[in-house]
Amino acid sequence: MPGLKPATEKQRQAFQFYGRRKGRPLRKGRQFLFDELLPRITIPLSKGPLNEGGALDPATLFTPQQRAVWLEIGFGGGEHLAHQAASNPDIGFLGCEVFESGIASGLSHIAERDLENVRLHPEDARVLLAALQPRSLDRVFLLFPDPWPKRRHAQRRFVNRGNLDRLAELIVAGGELRIASDDPVYIEWTLQHVPVHPAFQWLVQGPADWLERPTDAIETRYEKKARDAGRVPHFFRFLRR
Ligand SMILES: C[S@@+](CC[C@H](N)C(=O)[O-])C[C@H]1O[C@@H](n2cnc3c(N)ncnc32)[C@H](O)[C@@H]1O
Repeated sequence: MPGLKPATEKQRQAFQFYGRRKGRPLRKGRQFLFDELLPRITIPLSKGPLNEGGALDPATLFTPQQRAVWLEIGFGGGEHLAHQAASNPDIGFLGCEVFESGIASGLSHIAERDLENVRLHPEDARVLLAALQPRSLDRVFLLFPDPWPKRRHAQRRFVNRGNLDRLAELIVAGGELRIASDDPVYIEWTLQHVPVHPAFQWLVQGPADWLERPTDAIETRYEKKARDAGRVPHFFRFLRR
């Protein structure tokens, strides 16, 4: 996909971002993937200053066109994104991540498995959400989002009414929003916000539904860190009504 443009500086500045974008300098091989592979699979956001108005149909990013499109927000090292993409070759995957080393790790998973069905937005996920066409996503993953547990940082949490409203517009009826967290504050926050949203229904029958990772998913790096530290990961599946 030559000639694709990443998000512009204006698009970046539209949302305040509080997390980390850069860590240690990238190793040579990863820098190569950043320079060579990333431009080929970056989602083009070039229409209008913010690409607002939901113009982009993500299904058109894939050849051949895929039967469904799934999005992972904050994919971290990209292991879950790559696992899902490899297990579901007929589905198109969008991945968002802002942290450079995470993006580089995601690229190495994509390259190692030769995945053709993944496109990346190496920027703030909210810029991509603003650009997508309504009802264009079938499933969205938000796995172990930054918890921002202090009350004064609550407005930084990705789960909030504005983002849920936008996700409700983007996910098709019958689609799914999956959220995982190990942080007690964020778990409670998620349950206070998502099941009460008119567009989402918590798919739950008993504790196994939140204590066991969905069988089609794999443990992410962050989930392992949480378990090693004695925290209990919770997994939530919400149906888009
Ligand atoms: C705690 S980590 C979890 C990473 C991964 N999902 C896992 O389970 O290992 C949260 C990730 O979300 C990313 N992130 C936070 N806000 C984001 C945003 N607005 N858009 C895209 N990525 C974001 C961070 O850079 C970080 O890598």
